Amino acid sequence: MLRVCLAGATGWAGSELSRGIARTSDIALVGAVGRRHAGESLGELLGEPRLSAVISASAQEALGIPCDVFVEYTKPDSAKANVRAALEHGAHVVIGTSGLTDHDFAEIDSLARGANRGVLACGNFALTVVLLQRFAEMAARLIPQWEIIDYAHDDKLDAPSGTARELAARLARVRAPSMTIPVTQTIGLPEARGATLDGSQVHSLRLPGFVIGAEIIFGMPDQRLMLRHDSGNSALPYVDGALLAIRRVGTLVGVHRGLDTVLDI
Ligand SMILES: NC(=O)c1ccc[n+]([C@@H]2O[C@H](COP(=O)([O-])OP(=O)(O)OC[C@H]3O[C@@H](n4cnc5c(N)ncnc54)[C@H](OP(=O)(O)O)[C@@H]3O)[C@@H](O)[C@H]2O)c1
Repeated sequence: MLRVCLAGATGWAGSELSRGIARTSDIALVGAVGRRHAGESLGELLGEPRLSAVISASAQEALGIPCDVFVEYTKPDSAKANVRAALEHGAHVVIGTSGLTDHDFAEIDSLARGANRGVLACGNFALTVVLLQRFAEMAARLIPQWEIIDYAHDDKLDAPSGTARELAARLARVRAPSMTIPVTQTIGLPEARGATLDGSQVHSLRLPGFVIGAEIIFGMPDQRLMLRHDSGNSALPYVDGALLAIRRVGTLVGVHRGLDTVLDI
């Protein structure tokens, strides 16, 4: 049995993952973190009798129970401290929380390597996103100009989304995108051209009516390629990918980004 501690187990994404873990026969949820329901039984809260963990108010407290893998699914402002605590307790870490910066990941990487533990960070566990990232990398090898649009609900705190950040970082490793008119030479409002992230222009929409989506548009003279992923209202698309990450993170050392690190594609 793989023992897992899940920070954010009572949240939108974390509660669906908790239910997903309850359906497995090889993963046991031994710890759960969430402030508002601290002290309560996670199983009773979620109506899932197969879950026996008691919710802790902090990661530090929950890590008092030994675990093999710590899953971070809270908020960007608490994520780094939680990950640090988990590595100090000897756990491998899966990060689902978005909003961590490249600098954060560099810090976490050196902690993880020092502890000889793996960290698998996936801005988006959905299979359609993993494929979008792969297809975009293929397209970028042949098409030098693209821009990214990230769509999310109006109360999402961080921008750009983890998915957009990950996509821009991946494409930067393929090539630096070219631009006909540099952003600095924009007449009017340069901000209208979006944020420059690892060389890519990224535009973040935050509106009611959206859940999470990501689009990349490649442009060439007289032709366009658009790759787009959209997810619906439930957090189900993220469960299978997160379970896979939990099962495979123990094979890694240091920070690895993207689920395809452990997928055979
Ligand atoms: N990688 C992916 O595929 C994926 C998919 C969906 C979401 N996400 C990301 O995952 C994160 C969580 O999203 P969500 O929609 O599930 O948010 P949410 O519904 O607000 O849930 C957040 C969870 O974290 C807990 N929490 C928040 N701050 C905490 C703190 N300081 N200490 C302890 N517990 C804390 C919350 O409980 P209390 O408030 O009671 O403490 C709750 O259980 C976001 O960054 C989101 O962008 C990633």
